[in-house]
Amino acid sequence: MGKLLVVGNWKMNRMPSEAEPFLRQLREQMPAMQHVTVVVCPPFPSLPIAAPVLEKSPIQLGAQNMCWARGGAFTGEVSPAMLRDLYVTHVILGHSERRSHFHETLEQIAAKVRAALDNGLIPILCLGETQAEREAARQSSVVERQLISALEGLGEEQARRLVVAYEPIWAIGTGKTATPDQAQEMHATLRQLLAKHLGEETARRVRILYGGSVQAANALELFRQPDIDGGLVGGASLDANEFLAIVAHAHSCA
Ligand code: PGA
Repeated sequence: MGKLLVVGNWKMNRMPSEAEPFLRQLREQMPAMQHVTVVVCPPFPSLPIAAPVLEKSPIQLGAQNMCWARGGAFTGEVSPAMLRDLYVTHVILGHSERRSHFHETLEQIAAKVRAALDNGLIPILCLGETQAEREAARQSSVVERQLISALEGLGEEQARRLVVAYEPIWAIGTGKTATPDQAQEMHATLRQLLAKHLGEETARRVRILYGGSVQAANALELFRQPDIDGGLVGGASLDANEFLAIVAHAHSCA
């Protein structure tokens, strides 16, 4: 397996004025690690503050959303090139909160994934089922539809840079994590789907993260699963010690 990836998703938390001291602390305490990549994704207004703090540190910068268009009359939106200009390397796309609160469609998410790759950004494509879908045993078909629609038009080479984050909606912000077995089962399904559509080599290279109430207390068991290549961490990424402990668990599995 390649490098493990741990991504902190701050969501709409922390003021821009609070971002700098927090990131300084994280930078100072983050060990240099060969086999783990760490990315933090603050809200847009904190990106220009974060970039100089994280320069020459092992921590990379991510955004939480992006427009699929290159520029122009799209009031309130942020283009891929604007993110690149702020030294952003990764972008979370299709998060369940964007799909549900902002009605992002499969087509829009697919367009964003393509735009990110075309602009040299690494898309972190989020997908996952609701509680009701799991209870109806529909989780695999739901996630398959979300994955396949987002791969539309991608070549194998391009798709290798994609990161997929499996985030069961019932586990997000609830403290109710998927068990390592439940997560591994879905990750293996995702890997098989990637192999079917993009070939074995690409499927091996795409990193598949688990997200949904990842904490220091459950990270190690999750990261030990063969198809879990790291985590997308929400709430726990707002606490520096907790986030550092999660990163340390990834390091011990790498
Ligand atoms: P959580 O959020 O870790 O707070 O459950 C994860 C996410 O939504 O990315």
